[in-house]
Amino acid sequence: MQERIEALLKEERVFYPSEEFKRQAHIKSEEEYERLYRESLEDPEGFWGRVASELHWFEPPKKVLEGDLPHPKWFVGGRLNLSYNALDRHVQTWRRNKAALIWEGEPGEERVLTYYDLWREVQRFANVLKRLGVRKGDRVTIYLPMIPEAVIAMLATVRIGAVHSVVFGGFSASALAERIKDAEAKVLITADGGYRRGGIVPLKQNADEALQDAPSVQHVVVVRRTGEEVPMLPGRDHWWHELMEAASDRCEAEPMEAEEPLFILYTSGSTGKPKGVLHTTGGYGVYTYYTTKLIFDLKDEDVYWCTADVGWITGHSYIVYGPLMNGATVVMYEGAPNWPEPDRFWRIVDKYGVTILYTAPTAIRSFMKWGEQWPLKHRLDSLRLLGSVGEPINPEAWLWYYRVIGKGRCPIVDTWWQTETGGIMITTLPGVHPMKPGHAGKPFFGVKPEILDAEGKPVQNPEEGGHLVIERPWPSMLRTVWGDPDRFIKQYFSQHPGKYFTGDGAKRDADGYYMILGRVDDVLNVAGHRLGTMELESALVAHPAVAEAAVVGRPDPIKGEAIVAFVTLKEGFAPSDALKDELKAHVAKLIGPIARPDEVRFTDALPKTRSGKIMRRLLRQIAAGEQEIKGDTSTLEDQRVVEKLKEGA
Ligand code: WT7
Repeated sequence: MQERIEALLKEERVFYPSEEFKRQAHIKSEEEYERLYRESLEDPEGFWGRVASELHWFEPPKKVLEGDLPHPKWFVGGRLNLSYNALDRHVQTWRRNKAALIWEGEPGEERVLTYYDLWREVQRFANVLKRLGVRKGDRVTIYLPMIPEAVIAMLATVRIGAVHSVVFGGFSASALAERIKDAEAKVLITADGGYRRGGIVPLKQNADEALQDAPSVQHVVVVRRTGEEVPMLPGRDHWWHELMEAASDRCEAEPMEAEEPLFILYTSGSTGKPKGVLHTTGGYGVYTYYTTKLIFDLKDEDVYWCTADVGWITGHSYIVYGPLMNGATVVMYEGAPNWPEPDRFWRIVDKYGVTILYTAPTAIRSFMKWGEQWPLKHRLDSLRLLGSVGEPINPEAWLWYYRVIGKGRCPIVDTWWQTETGGIMITTLPGVHPMKPGHAGKPFFGVKPEILDAEGKPVQNPEEGGHLVIERPWPSMLRTVWGDPDRFIKQYFSQHPGKYFTGDGAKRDADGYYMILGRVDDVLNVAGHRLGTMELESALVAHPAVAEAAVVGRPDPIKGEAIVAFVTLKEGFAPSDALKDELKAHVAKLIGPIARPDEVRFTDALPKTRSGKIMRRLLRQIAAGEQEIKGDTSTLEDQRVVEKLKEGA
């Protein structure tokens, strides 16, 4: 951890938001932040009750917060619907004809849906789902490219009180099958394909393969996106446009209890099986609404673009729910940032006059690699605020983003959060806090972070770093792991009993700014994508040639971390480059292209302790090419293994 701290600390400059930005911001001063922050901890019920009243409730909550971690209840007795809050609430105002979604396909088509358009489409699809037998509480799996139908399907599902599980379009057939089975989804929504870097992602083909092994699905709705010929199974498969044609555009939103499920989203953990993180309606709605408004300083005039995929939590909270509940104009782009050329993002910014851009460090580092000439071809003068999410942003990338994209004019919010937290937890507020590159910043309202040592005591010196935990309930926290309440407690509340353990390391400076140091568990962050090492290892050992596998991360200049797999082979299999490629392809096939190992290394044995535990710390050092292995190796069962591994590089 010390090395990571050193690398991040090299930049010591502090950057201030301009007077102009401060003057117009929702929250304008540190005094105001401090006062509200104190109040949010001293009187969470008063604070969140007030925020909640900015949304529409069929029935206002009777009690804002009941109970404590790990099982708090928020907005008890309240009834609301997030589709109503994202649509009906705006349709009743001048926003009726405001652009809700401005969508651009990778090949270049453009579609604009006003709030009124989106409201009607969502209701029609809600009726389609009802006709297919979807009832309140049923699960609907959504496996779509970044097209407006993804947003429509999500909001239609929650409109009727059903629960969506969006599976990122880059996941493979078997990853999709695993997620459908775990959620026992009744309906699957997919497309004939989606465009990515000029190619077509065969979503329907993957879906068909997945469904051979996922019997809960009774109906499949297929969006015609590419026009590719796809097989349609009579009785099971239906075209989206045909069902929509026949559906009425009026469907009342179902009043949901605040603690009733909203969606499941699968994420990787330290075991082989992805976890179905469950979010509920009231707390998630209130928190994403409010964080979007304050952290992105969102105004009606803004054109807001978050470049994530709706298949990740960032897309759920900060493309769909947060921005639409705020009545924002949201830009949505289907494809790759470098298609047809490396300036696609900057073209989009200028074309639609994007004012707020929220993207990931791995993208920023790619832009740096492709060169300044690409953004310099465009004005970028509509931008007023920039955001970063997904992994620690190294100061070099921060400074480039600030200078080349923001022209020194736009504050940057480096937002730390997780699938499990539902919304942003640590960040600077753009009109308030000075920015320190590499530091996420301060806790958002209601968030009480702490840094603990391995024994669970607050660290003596927070600058040295430790485990990042959250000590108080916050509205948008996950409520459980779908179908596995024990795992919920074991994973998040047992390392430091009574506190939510994030799995991240962090340190805090004298100004109270948090710097996130990355995962302290067996989870990798590859280009902002979360992957469990066990998940990757299980995929590898599923190959007939593999006896044992250990996967670690290696620092990577673009992706943050690269995947390195150490593999021992079964009798009768010989190491070869062809086999390396085959294993890489095998993992990509089982999990998805994002999981393809960057490097496979064959070895005769893995370094293990006498009790048989793989010493990942050693493997990480070897993968990083370090010659001197640091730290205690006395528990290593066979000292020669390390020497051999180094030679095998
Ligand atoms: C993990 C959560 C929630 C957004 C997308 C990722 C890392 C996320 C930051 C940041 C440093 C960050 C953490 C976290 N992370 N944002 N601003 N600075 N690290 O969601 O897939 O649930 O991954 O991403 O390690 O635990 P996720």
